[in-house]
Amino acid sequence: MIIAGIETSCDETSVGIIDKSRVLVNLIASQEKIHSKFGGIVPELASRAHLEKIIPLFQSALKKAGINTNQIDAFGVTNSPGLKGSLLIGVAFAQSIGYALKKPVYNICHLHAHIAACYLNENITFPALGLVISGGHTSLFLLKSHTKFISIGKTRDDACGEAFDKVGRMLNLPFPGGAYVEKLAEKGDENKIKIPESYIRNSLDFSFSGIKTAVYYHILKNGLNNTADIAASFQKAISNSILAKIDDALMLYPVNYFLFGGGVLRNNYIRNRIKEHLAVREINTVIPESNLCADNGAMIAILTKYLILDGCKPQPYRICVIPT
Ligand code: KG4
Ligand code: ZN
Repeated sequence: MIIAGIETSCDETSVGIIDKSRVLVNLIASQEKIHSKFGGIVPELASRAHLEKIIPLFQSALKKAGINTNQIDAFGVTNSPGLKGSLLIGVAFAQSIGYALKKPVYNICHLHAHIAACYLNENITFPALGLVISGGHTSLFLLKSHTKFISIGKTRDDACGEAFDKVGRMLNLPFPGGAYVEKLAEKGDENKIKIPESYIRNSLDFSFSGIKTAVYYHILKNGLNNTADIAASFQKAISNSILAKIDDALMLYPVNYFLFGGGVLRNNYIRNRIKEHLAVREINTVIPESNLCADNGAMIAILTKYLILDGCKPQPYRICVIPT
């Protein structure tokens, strides 16, 4: 079964094609250059760039995978959550091509798909826990199966990646700041500056805005002399806050598998802290390789595959769709 996954929810246009669970191609066109000069994502520019990229990217994906359109059995497309104008491009594209080729089109939740990236290289046993740590969300799920997700926690304020990006801006780093903060932190001492961790009692919810604000007040008081130490100390506070909630989740739901996804998991320091933490607790930890943690089409395709196996119905064809 060959499935094409289309992803345009934010600022990456991506087409991934899988055959069973093997990734044939996973092309990602980043809009980083377009938005970085504005210090944030400009929704109108994002949807225009998706519109320009989606057809040529799909054509390149077919070529690289060595297949033609008739060999695709089904399409999956992110239809939520995300920027409305960006989602609209992917959904309209998938609906149109699905209709033209008479192939089914499945709507996919972006957050569930980040976790589904773990299915590409692992056989998971359920129930499992899943944590998405991205620029727009920090969301904890209990998974009853490959496709049954129950939301059990989320951030009450900033998403984790959002906190990284805002601290990046405070440190005069380019947008999006996450990867630059990580790079800077490599040269710093994580124990130099006391950044308080955040912890919400009696809840599986997260909070990151306090950590971000602590960095802001540190800079206000002490200036920008030791940016590497600030970055390292911030990253440590963020990681400790995540690990504390991972422990809380495992206390309530003692599962064997903990799955992870989302752009912040591209951060090697955070990946390693999580892996070490869960190894001691003898939990199977699945963190996809870096490209599969970013927004990508292959994660959309693999979740589509499991929805099909579960007997889910495709979307009726509608070319003009306003995603909800
Ligand atoms: O999942 P993603 O690609 O898009 C959303 O669904 O939001 O996540 C993007 C987020 C951004 O906030 C970006 O700064 C962050 O992931 N990010 C990182 C790193 N690479 C990307 N954060 C920390 N360290 C990194 N190396
Ligand atoms: Zn994402």
